[in-house]
Amino acid sequence: MALRFEVIGRFNRARAAQLTLPHYICQTPLFMPVGTQGTIKGLTYSQLEDIGCQIILGNTYHLALRPTAELIDDMGGLHKFMNWDRALLTDSGGFQMVSLLHLADITEKGVTFQSPADGQPMLLTPEESIQIQNKIGADIIMALDDVVKTTITGPRVEEAMYRTLRWIDRCIAAHQRPHEQNLFGIVQGGLDPVLRDICVKGLVERDLPGYAIGGLSGGEDKDSFWRVVAQCTAALPEDKPRYVMGVGYPLDIVVCSALGADMYDCVYPTRTARFGTALVPEGVLKLKHKVMANDERPIDPTCSCMVCKTYTRAYLHCLVTKDALGSQLLSYHNLAYMMRLSKELHLSIVEGRFPDFVREFLKAQFPRGD
Ligand code: GUN
Ligand code: ZN
Repeated sequence: MALRFEVIGRFNRARAAQLTLPHYICQTPLFMPVGTQGTIKGLTYSQLEDIGCQIILGNTYHLALRPTAELIDDMGGLHKFMNWDRALLTDSGGFQMVSLLHLADITEKGVTFQSPADGQPMLLTPEESIQIQNKIGADIIMALDDVVKTTITGPRVEEAMYRTLRWIDRCIAAHQRPHEQNLFGIVQGGLDPVLRDICVKGLVERDLPGYAIGGLSGGEDKDSFWRVVAQCTAALPEDKPRYVMGVGYPLDIVVCSALGADMYDCVYPTRTARFGTALVPEGVLKLKHKVMANDERPIDPTCSCMVCKTYTRAYLHCLVTKDALGSQLLSYHNLAYMMRLSKELHLSIVEGRFPDFVREFLKAQFPRGD
């Protein structure tokens, strides 16, 4: 195991912890920006450090295609290649293929997909995913899982859950660097509590350094989503980090943290920035809207980020969708917002005022109480 997870504060099921990884000591709850190709679109590393970003996520699938795992390995690993000295996490690749390439086909051997380069069929096995992730060298690596959409029901959900359990053993056997990289298992099982329970138990028996809850945020309703998270966090070990994959919106992160989850990743803050949307305590601010054209206020007067200290809504309105700088500045602010949210969650739990924080957060987002 190459991590230490020390819970330093609790409020009911919520926890605040210090997660010590090989490259960085992170505070949880923790939001991880997604940097698909080894970059967060439009931001420099010094900007990511300025806003307090502790760990970023890369995708095995994208990195393996370009620049390729071999090149990253030759360059001394992804940390050195990118010149990012804080923590990194890589996702295993299966989910990206299934969600991006609808042509992906999953068999017991692995995930078969058509190469986006030349259309040739390619196979990603659990062993290969781990080999690639060993070359990339992230602090946390993810097991290859069989992911089905949460809106699918029937025998396919059960098959995917059992396959995910069989694949975890192949991932563990293939993992060459357990003292430098932490392999997390991923709980699957759709919205079925019996399947989720079998999967959690199976993974916990393997005594992994951390656990992820996968297969969510795929169009299921909020009640089902929160119920699955609540069930899994209650059954996962207290002394290991819990990562809810692909989540999410600020509200989801607050609720999942209350349910005992610790880590999150999502493209939402940067993707929505590219469409001209800024995250603010009240929800979202659409900078494209014509009422912004002569608004001299910053995006969020309570935000102390560089963008809010420097630019008016009017100026950003002028930039968005017309100049790359517009989406870069909004991405910067949105990630700063997520970092501030993570930090406030952490501090409010440590300082015993988590319920007040949640109440204030909800009051700002839902002023009419709905
Ligand atoms: N990203 C979002 N959801 C998932 C999931 O279920 N599995 C993996 N590997 N990545 C994800
Ligand atoms: Zn800001």
